[in-house]
Amino acid sequence: MIDKARGLAVDQFFLDLEDAVAPLAKAEARERIVGALTEGGWDGKVRSVRVNALDTEWTYRDVVTVVEGAGADLDTIILPKVSTPDHVRWLDLTLTQIERAMGLEVGRIGIEPQIEDARGLVEIDAIARAPRVEALIYGPADFMASVNMRSLVVGHQPPGYDVGDAYHYTLFRILTAARAADVQAIDGPYLQIKDVDGLREVGGRSAALGFDGKWVLHPAQVDAVNELFSPRQADYDHAENILDAYEWHTSAAGGARGAAMLGDEMIDEASRKMALVIAGKGRAAGMTRNDPWTPPEN
Ligand code: GLV
Ligand code: MG
Repeated sequence: MIDKARGLAVDQFFLDLEDAVAPLAKAEARERIVGALTEGGWDGKVRSVRVNALDTEWTYRDVVTVVEGAGADLDTIILPKVSTPDHVRWLDLTLTQIERAMGLEVGRIGIEPQIEDARGLVEIDAIARAPRVEALIYGPADFMASVNMRSLVVGHQPPGYDVGDAYHYTLFRILTAARAADVQAIDGPYLQIKDVDGLREVGGRSAALGFDGKWVLHPAQVDAVNELFSPRQADYDHAENILDAYEWHTSAAGGARGAAMLGDEMIDEASRKMALVIAGKGRAAGMTRNDPWTPPEN
């Protein structure tokens, strides 16, 4: 399983010590994770471990074993069920001690809190600004359980709620907190592994809102999620053209204008900012332009 993960077209992977590992298997899993990280072969992917939540007896030993054993080969720790910024502060202080003791660079390992309950959502702005936080991750399954939502299928609308999207508030709250704190917003898992259409529908919502990525649980989910979180080709081309046209029109050669026309569309500084978002995502995904804009000849 770990070997298969090395070859997948993903930006980040995480090795789990939490819900996917049975209580009696935690100690062995820690050692296997240290081995998998130190062996390497992860090819530039962000390397993460999800430790157990702080309401268990396992977290401190997870952190000590993994960071002492493989701290130099680890980029972030995913901390589940974060319901207060104190959880993140505990991890920050613990990491700092281990980094000092092991001669590792202090502060290099980032923290990704999972927002998985009502308290975490209420405290989200302080959590997003806590030390070392690089991303907020939505944990939809635990979150649905925490608010007593009447659905067993992650991301599907609870029967009886027919006035909109039952997940909109949570997703948008997480996204806004992440953007305000300048950290990433990551959507969590879709559990029906064989249902790629369902994944596209549910993941399409967080992608459309502006989330930076989504977990995959299985290789069969990778292509759909990469596609959802990359701009469509026409949008990418359009965004790059807005940037080029705006740069030219605002330059001396283009008349130093503040607003200009691109075809039938008026573009201005706000258009440039929107275009930068789409172009940035397309460039990060390695997209190439089909139909580059060129300045008018006269
Ligand atoms: C992930 O951890 C989830 O609870 O959805
Ligand atoms: Mg969870």
